[in-house]
Amino acid sequence: MAAQSPAPVRDVARARQLEMYRRALGHMPGGTDSNFRAWGDATIYVDRGKGGRVWDMDGNEFVDLRMGYGPVILGHGDDRVDDYVNERMRRGVSFSLTSEDEVRTIELLCELTGWVDMARMTVSGTEATMHAMRVARAYTGRTKIVKFEGQYHGVHDYALISVAPDDMSQLGDPDAPVRLAWGRGIPDAVADTIIPARYNNLEGLRRLFEREGHDIAAIIVEPVLGNAQGIMPKPGFHQAMRELTEEFGILLIFDEVKTGFRFARGGAAEYFGITPDLGTFAKAMGNGYPAAAFGGRRDIMSVLPDKVSHGGTYAGNRVAAAAAVRTLEIIRDTDALDTIRATGEAIQAGIRELLERRGLAHVITGHPSMFGIMFTETDPSEYRDWANTDHELYDAIAVGMQARGAMPEPDSREPWFICEAHAQGDTVDEVIGAFGSALDAALEARARGELGQATAH
Ligand SMILES: Cc1ncc(COP(=O)(O)O)c(C=O)c1O
Repeated sequence: MAAQSPAPVRDVARARQLEMYRRALGHMPGGTDSNFRAWGDATIYVDRGKGGRVWDMDGNEFVDLRMGYGPVILGHGDDRVDDYVNERMRRGVSFSLTSEDEVRTIELLCELTGWVDMARMTVSGTEATMHAMRVARAYTGRTKIVKFEGQYHGVHDYALISVAPDDMSQLGDPDAPVRLAWGRGIPDAVADTIIPARYNNLEGLRRLFEREGHDIAAIIVEPVLGNAQGIMPKPGFHQAMRELTEEFGILLIFDEVKTGFRFARGGAAEYFGITPDLGTFAKAMGNGYPAAAFGGRRDIMSVLPDKVSHGGTYAGNRVAAAAAVRTLEIIRDTDALDTIRATGEAIQAGIRELLERRGLAHVITGHPSMFGIMFTETDPSEYRDWANTDHELYDAIAVGMQARGAMPEPDSREPWFICEAHAQGDTVDEVIGAFGSALDAALEARARGELGQATAH
């Protein structure tokens, strides 16, 4: 790896964004459309993106390491996708009739995954997991769904259980996790149908299945902890879970919203060599357009259309379906995923070298296309482990990187996302340079007893 030149702190203008924030606060709670991007007066208002870069309303340019929380797998404004979408959308976008692009999307999804026999499009990952859960309940005649602590499956009531507390004691005793609703407004009757479990903990899962398996329709799992820097399964975890679910007649839902068409053409199921029963897909399948789907085994999906409700005015809309067709074709026919993997590995290697040189204990988690950096002496294996990492240091680095022209998510739980376009130009070196300089600034701030405060200056 070439030596990285230090990345200086830039003068990041904020005037227009602050003005927009104040304006937005007038009519939008938190000044945005999502709690996850409500960052007070640091809320970012975007102007545009191209390739692996994003520009905010004040004209500041960043290497984008968030990529919209993962969907933009090829790069912002990818002409191959956008040209096709533009051509198709001129024929009209919403008919509540079915287009060839929808059929083609599902054919491609089945071809790339290799294990999905039938699927339907939705507009968001939230809808996809909601429908997969309903289909699982309908097929098995059972009520309960098991989910892992710290895993995020969207914003419907059944998904918002034991997701992201900072204080791990809220999740209950490690031997008897309690279901924790995220925020008010989720009826107990709904929350009580969700049973939290601990990722990578097979003994706990077996005990749970022995106790309540007769009433458990499915276990939904994000193959890696995408909401905790992509913590990976222990060797054999998915295989053992697959066997356990079969033993108890419980369906296995792979939530591939983040991992699908990213870890491999066939997603995490291919990467880990697992054949789930149902899967949910979104994000990378549309390069940022709102395309999503749920699907799985033919016999299970055959509860649709007669026995289970599913619909949606915008399900399979022209824009999403066209984007999915083109994106999935590119993922199938080009070496985009190899490029992404190599780029991620190059960034990881640079970061590892910087951290080793400074003797800092760390673990790089996840897949090269979607990874995290955790400051810890021990290998994290579940969400609760995040609490024991030095996330103050990580957060300070993330803030410092932003001041140096690279934008990871400010919350240390969210992984960095790599897109195909990050391979272009000096992007890899820029990211490593920004990381190294931000790291040094954070360590200096810590030495002064100032960590937690802005480290950019
Ligand atoms: C694994 C997983 N499932 C489901 C969702 C929900 O998807 P959406 O935000 O499209 O509703 C997300 C979103 O980040 C996710 O990461």
